Amino acid sequence: MLYICPKCHEKLIIVDKSYKCINNHTYDISSKGYVNFLLNDDKNSLHPGDTKDSLIARYDFLNKGYYKFIFNKVNNIVKEYNIINLLDIGCGVGYYTYQLKVNNPSINIYGFDIAKEALAIASRYTKKDINWFVSNSKNIPIEDNSIDAVLAMFSFITLDEIKRVLKDDGIFIQVCAGKNHLIELKQTIYDEVKIKEEDNNLLPLNLIDRNEYTTTINIDNNEDIINLFKMTPHYYRCSKEKKNIINNLDKIELTIDIVINIYKK
Ligand SMILES: C[S@@+](CC[C@H](N)C(=O)[O-])C[C@H]1O[C@@H](n2cnc3c(N)ncnc32)[C@H](O)[C@@H]1O
Ligand SMILES: [Zn+2]
Repeated sequence: MLYICPKCHEKLIIVDKSYKCINNHTYDISSKGYVNFLLNDDKNSLHPGDTKDSLIARYDFLNKGYYKFIFNKVNNIVKEYNIINLLDIGCGVGYYTYQLKVNNPSINIYGFDIAKEALAIASRYTKKDINWFVSNSKNIPIEDNSIDAVLAMFSFITLDEIKRVLKDDGIFIQVCAGKNHLIELKQTIYDEVKIKEEDNNLLPLNLIDRNEYTTTINIDNNEDIINLFKMTPHYYRCSKEKKNIINNLDKIELTIDIVINIYKK
């Protein structure tokens, strides 16, 4: 186990159904299979992270396989490296985390999110085969220099923490939305869509590879379109009138456009 106490940073050991440090800070392992390491000081609201509605929509949508293309790209990278321990930052409902475990059973996988409800959903995939926990990416309860690959898929990251947990030869795989990602959805809900300029703001790490991948997917039912819409921040931003348009859409062809950066520290 690579867990350390988020309060005092001492090693944690399992005592009964809890993790304990030498200073007696205690974190219970929930019956659902995840550990809540989120300190009150690391909460930015009463219910931090994505809303329950958005998480359920994400789980239902991803389980239908629409984003298998994205998973395959990440899985190919993971298979290229000799990875013992992998950490998925902001794992959400754990779709990619679990698929990685199924396809790479020998890797020891840790997945966390700031939303407790996300882990309650993620642990439906498996209670035991993945180390699920609740935490803020600003204060990760993982030992220094212990992780071979950190993965962040569309997630909020804190660079200093990623550097701290990575082994010296570890890699950081960052998956971001490309400029045309879901452009058709944006064109449906905004009068004017500003195409993001190419993001050249690379992180101050050693970039070893960068690729953009695109494809299209077809969704031909209203339920899945609404679920996808609820996964995005657009659902919470757009006008009622535009929301109605989406609520009545029965099919849409969408561009998937992602950028994957691979860094060493
Ligand atoms: C866009 S979702 C991506 C989820 C997952 N990686 C996926 O691709 O399905 C971003 C996730 O980051 C989580 N999140 C936001 N701020 C966070 C933080 N400070 N620490 C950890 N997770 C955070 C949210 O709760 C949400 O589940
Ligand atoms: Zn402690």
